[in-house]
Amino acid sequence: LETKERIPVIYKHFQECTGCSESFIRTAHPVVADLILDMISLDYHDTLMAAAGHQAREAAHMTKEKYKGGYILACEGSIPLADGGIHSMVDGKTQLELFREYEKDCMAIIAYGSCAAFGNVQAAHPNPTQATPIYKLTNKPVINVPGCPPIAEVMAGVITHILTFGIPELDIRKRPKVFYRHRIHDNCQRRPFFDAGMFVESFDDEGAKLGWCLYKMGCKGPVTYNSCANMKWNEGTCWPVESGNPCLGCSEDNFWDFGPMFTTL
Ligand code: SF4
Ligand code: SF4
Ligand code: F3S
Repeated sequence: LETKERIPVIYKHFQECTGCSESFIRTAHPVVADLILDMISLDYHDTLMAAAGHQAREAAHMTKEKYKGGYILACEGSIPLADGGIHSMVDGKTQLELFREYEKDCMAIIAYGSCAAFGNVQAAHPNPTQATPIYKLTNKPVINVPGCPPIAEVMAGVITHILTFGIPELDIRKRPKVFYRHRIHDNCQRRPFFDAGMFVESFDDEGAKLGWCLYKMGCKGPVTYNSCANMKWNEGTCWPVESGNPCLGCSEDNFWDFGPMFTTL
């Protein structure tokens, strides 16, 4: 990595909540400062830059012109297409127009978060803004890094992999297999309780206090692929199911319409 030129990155926000960027800046391996100062050249980020307004826009424009075909476009958020795209506009332009400006000359796109990868809650039935995932709007290589938000070290790990080895091997949902090949259910510390038929029946019952399986509380771990149970969150401190929350399936396409997020069967 030390001998490689820093790859320019333009990071654009579309219809989203900025939670993915909040996660990104918490990466510990590598530390975010090393990542954005030594490994990549984060030339533009809608929310993480000292410059604002015309200066910021100029930085993005310069990168786009100087590195035609050689920069990574990182996207956070889906693109709303309904009603000519008026549901989310910046600087008088629709998100689709802004996306096109940067998409046409990039070498690859990283779709960070389930909004960019799959549409997410904005796309929940009946999807009034016609929130559309990035991969449906481009012919460029797209790497989906879903999660709401994704794990910080997964976000950093994907970009590090691209810098070091190129685009990682992807699964059928365009997710890097290295981080999304694990089924939550197969690595969950509550799994012995599932196998023994010992289930939490309400969030304040004895089973909940003893760490039993959350399947009957709506846990989607059996149908969800992500690294939460292996890598955990907050520098490996904990993860949702460990802390007593059923997995919502947030790294899976259409998880927002799976059914109730918390349920007693
Ligand atoms: Fe926010 Fe989740 Fe969308 Fe990320 S994926 S921008 S955390 S709603
Ligand atoms: Fe599987 Fe969820 Fe039960 Fe863990 S809590 S064993 S992921 S159903
Ligand atoms: Fe998301 Fe489930 Fe992990 S809700 S954060 S994939 S435990």
